[in-house]
Amino acid sequence: MSKINWDEIIKWDEKYLIHTWSSKEEYHCLPIESTEGDYLIMPDGTRLLDFFNQLYCVNAGQKNPKVIAGIKEALDRYGFLWDAYTSDYKARAAKMIIEDVLGPDKWAKKVRFANSGGEAAEIACIFARLFTGKPIIATREYSYHGYTAGATSVTAMLPAKSALSRLEKTAYRSVPGYSVAPTMVVPAPFCYRCSIGHTYPECKSKGDKLPCILATERLIRNKGLDQVGAIITETIHGASTIHPPDEYIPQLRQLTRELGLVWIVDEILVGCGRTGSWFAYQKYNVVPDIMLVAKGIVNSQIPAAAVIVNEEIADFIDSHRWNHVSTFSGHPIAMAAICANLEYMLEHNLPEKARISGEYLGKRLKELEAKHKSVGLVVGSGQLWQVEMVKNKKTGEPIIAEDRNSDFTGDQHNWPNKTVMYKAIEKGVLMGGFVPNTLRIGASLEVSNEDIDKAVAALDYALDFVDAMAD
Ligand SMILES: Cc1ncc(COP(=O)(O)O)c(C=O)c1O
Repeated sequence: MSKINWDEIIKWDEKYLIHTWSSKEEYHCLPIESTEGDYLIMPDGTRLLDFFNQLYCVNAGQKNPKVIAGIKEALDRYGFLWDAYTSDYKARAAKMIIEDVLGPDKWAKKVRFANSGGEAAEIACIFARLFTGKPIIATREYSYHGYTAGATSVTAMLPAKSALSRLEKTAYRSVPGYSVAPTMVVPAPFCYRCSIGHTYPECKSKGDKLPCILATERLIRNKGLDQVGAIITETIHGASTIHPPDEYIPQLRQLTRELGLVWIVDEILVGCGRTGSWFAYQKYNVVPDIMLVAKGIVNSQIPAAAVIVNEEIADFIDSHRWNHVSTFSGHPIAMAAICANLEYMLEHNLPEKARISGEYLGKRLKELEAKHKSVGLVVGSGQLWQVEMVKNKKTGEPIIAEDRNSDFTGDQHNWPNKTVMYKAIEKGVLMGGFVPNTLRIGASLEVSNEDIDKAVAALDYALDFVDAMAD
């Protein structure tokens, strides 16, 4: 029996907190008393299996004991140091990232720590603009890089730019004047519904480069290579959940080299083992110029993020005074958590564990693809899988027509991602997706096959209800 007065807590939660993603009328408090491994435990003892892995960020499992021990040790030694001072944890965290984790790739030279992924995106954009002296950063359709103003300026997902929406379709309001930094949007490698009208893999036969790469090149050249200095890309789109075709990332890297662009790779969601390698870019035999990490770098047990840069950019910054500060960056407790988390991930080879558990998860999801008429596509690896739910399996027509262009106004109860969420929770499993027709499925990197079976059974049950929306 819980010692906490949850009735009182729920009252305070509803009365005093500003909530996101739902209006006051729609808000529903979900009280969680504790967390453990892949489970959230409710005040009445109900155990919910979390196939959201919260925000795909608790890679080494809830309350990882090694990270807890690292944080406790640091709490006994430090209160606070700002960035002008060095704790052993901060220097060691940087060394571990550059040498122990990224050493074999031979591109990463230096690290700047930050407090959140969005803040890391801000810093990466600052570095790219200072280094190149060019204002425009290219980004891609449906991208998400964080909610702060600079990160939002390179975010191309309509609802993820801190806009207001409501049940009434007319209620949409974006933040006036928010995305002020100069950016441009180029096509996403979304082959399932190509926004420039091509069909994969037939589009490959038209030449050496994919049409989306050619369009990216054309749009950037049209803006002017004296204006565009960098491109920022999630290796795999996380929020909008899009896996690129195999050729895309190598061709994009080639293009950045041809055009002399800095390539900023956002691995905040897909990095730190999530897709079965340390970083998703490694699957493509390429290396970035700048990389962003957060979430899994610290197992989300405390806030921390990092921007990692190549030698040229590190040398450029080092040759100046960079007048920049954030009170909490490099916080000793967060740095201790990164060290402990990376030690755990290295000792237990978590990326490899994710690769293996992902093979099993993928096999089970493919069974559902064969069984359910509403499942049009299953693609992924490790603990990050994309499931597209469709009206028509042959044409791939989406159930909710706006798909990834939705502004999140209107009634979302009939969205397939929400249907899956409501139905799966009846079976004790949390799962769903951010955009209307898509599920984004993944647990911690050490999830058991037994829990995968439980999640797949819940999804099987939920998809029967989505099938009713399909032809
Ligand atoms: C790819 C990507 N970039 C940036 C962010 C922003 O990170 P944070 O929420 O820590 O600010 C996220 C968060 O989900 C993300 O998925």
